Amino acid sequence: MPEIDKENVIDQEEVLRPKMVSVEITGKTYQVPEGITMIKALWYTGQEVIHGAGCLGGFCGACATYYRTKDDPKVKTCLACQTAVQEGMSFSMVPPFPARKATYQMAELKDPKQDLFTLYPEAPLCRNCNACTEACPQTIDVREGVWRAVFGDFKAVSEMFMDCVMCGLCVPVCIADIAPNLVALYASRAQGVHFTEKPQRLFHRIKEIEEGRYDGEWDRVLHMNEQQLKEACAELK
Ligand code: SF4
Ligand code: SF4
Ligand code: FES
Repeated sequence: MPEIDKENVIDQEEVLRPKMVSVEITGKTYQVPEGITMIKALWYTGQEVIHGAGCLGGFCGACATYYRTKDDPKVKTCLACQTAVQEGMSFSMVPPFPARKATYQMAELKDPKQDLFTLYPEAPLCRNCNACTEACPQTIDVREGVWRAVFGDFKAVSEMFMDCVMCGLCVPVCIADIAPNLVALYASRAQGVHFTEKPQRLFHRIKEIEEGRYDGEWDRVLHMNEQQLKEACAELK
């Protein structure tokens, strides 16, 4: 039997063992595998995440989190499902913030640009501090969006906030008590309902559906078994 060169032997267990980093979660220190997301670190350390975990893909905004990296006093914001832990990091999930949500029937508003000042009277009081923009994990220019809404440029607002995930991180930082995300949501809805040209073919199709044109077809699909469904789908392809 050939002699084993012990120097070159790979310790498989050692190689497969993940490198651990030390993180502080809501004030307590834990060891977690390097590179996992903050949400996974919460699960790994046995925390109960009842609120704060949704899509895990950076879309629902449920996992808003405050964090600080080693030796940096600045507290930053992120989505915990999209951010990897690092050695020395400290983080806590953000509890829901009780922002005031205006109640309105968008289709019934007569002058939505003017109504903004009744529904969100604090919007024009923005002091340009830019804290909302700095807090936004989606890198939206939130401050600019608030001003555009105030000046009635709802189209620009609806485009600027396309990536808003409603995490709410821009709200508690506002010194003027504005909920920029809700102002932007209002402006975007108003843009869609009142100022965007309606897609006529879509309305035509909705009318056809309402009038029952496709009822028979639906009935046929809903009564198919799995095999019949597969065959019908293959025909469509
Ligand atoms: S605009 Fe506000 S609510 Fe929207 S993603 Fe940015 S911080 Fe979150
Ligand atoms: S945080 Fe508030 S006051 Fe500051 S820029 Fe944003 S909306 Fe304006
Ligand atoms: S869980 Fe949905 S954005 Fe993080």
